[in-house]
Amino acid sequence: MTYAAITGWGACMPPAILTNHDLATFLDTTDEWITSRTGMHERRISHVTATELAAVAGARALACAGLAAGDVDLIIYGGTSNDELCPNSASGVQVMLGAPRAASIDLNTACTSFCYGLATATAMIRTGIVRNALVIGVELISRYMDWSNRNVAVLFGDGAAAVVLQSSDREEGMIGAVLGCDAGARQTLRVRGVGCAYAGLDISFGDTIWDFDGPAIFKRAVQAMSEASTRVLRAAGLTADQVDLVVPHQANLRIIESVAKYAGIPMDRVIVTVHKYGNMSAATVPVALVEALEARRVKPGGVILIPAFGGGLTYCSLLVRWGERVTPLGQSDAELARCTQTALELVNQVRANQDPHGRSLKGLMTPVLAEMRVGR
Ligand code: ACO
Repeated sequence: MTYAAITGWGACMPPAILTNHDLATFLDTTDEWITSRTGMHERRISHVTATELAAVAGARALACAGLAAGDVDLIIYGGTSNDELCPNSASGVQVMLGAPRAASIDLNTACTSFCYGLATATAMIRTGIVRNALVIGVELISRYMDWSNRNVAVLFGDGAAAVVLQSSDREEGMIGAVLGCDAGARQTLRVRGVGCAYAGLDISFGDTIWDFDGPAIFKRAVQAMSEASTRVLRAAGLTADQVDLVVPHQANLRIIESVAKYAGIPMDRVIVTVHKYGNMSAATVPVALVEALEARRVKPGGVILIPAFGGGLTYCSLLVRWGERVTPLGQSDAELARCTQTALELVNQVRANQDPHGRSLKGLMTPVLAEMRVGR
């Protein structure tokens, strides 16, 4: 039997920090509200492109695995933030890394993109299509955030992390997965303004309206992640006691606590990064995994539960059995270009291109675009 071992890991966090107090300089919000409702204190804002974040994370993961870029068969770029739609982002990472043999795929299931990418790459390795894969979770949400909307602007951040998967005959890597999509509720989270539906309208990239029903997403997220976790554990014949670590999607501390409580797993076995990075969508799980490894919280042979959800509303819960090695084989010298601006200056640059009074998109697109139903 072939398995897909996780042999490398690496993160790339942009250095500029946006605090709750920074947000309160241009939004009607407070540190107290954000902290008490979400657990978030700060998040990162990127000064570089999403592809650069992804490539640096990828280079670090490859060095950690001791794998040459030339030996990578598959790159999966998981996330909703693409510098361009064509060519795709994974091919840009491929060029930056120098990985000429790789097949390159962009995969977008919103916040679950990294997890779906892990499941996809694992399946491709286990069926013999590829032997080595690089799976990246990356987001650059600050560029298309509606910075005039306090309901969403306080919640998100930028970041990237990656893992290397390699064919193995030992039972390790992803050993179980439940994937699904609560599509009937897809309208609860929608970013209007980005995509072909908006072509020809007098709007520029970054001029968005976020439809966001926070309380509805909260309830559905807890339910979907909890049920998926129960199912994936049952299918593997494991109980909550046998889970060594939970590495959940980081959208809200209260969501994480609810999912852990439902699973019967104490918070000291749950990795939390939401206080310092906010919700980085597809990047939250791999960044949390890398931090868990760096903090030596992943034990050789340990069982890791990974529940996640995101726009769509996609959801999943993965089960990973770690291998023997929990330390890197090598280190990359890949670095981002130096950042010369503060996070607030970077955000204010995007804000300057957004019209708070509803000129273009907000004037043209008041109703939600109708959804066409095809077939039954
Ligand atoms: N500052 C101050 N007040 C605010 C802010 C803010 N930033 N945002 C909203 N409010 C106000 C609202 O206007 C509303 O006021 P009103 O009651 O006078 O109308 C009130 O606060 C909202 O309070 P609640 O709805 O009770 O807030 P809640 O406790 O539900 O927290 C939150 C809101 C944080 C959005 C929560 O619902 C949540 O976390 N939902 C899930 C979010 C999520 O998972 N997002 C990710 C989706 S998928 C993905 O990861 C991409």
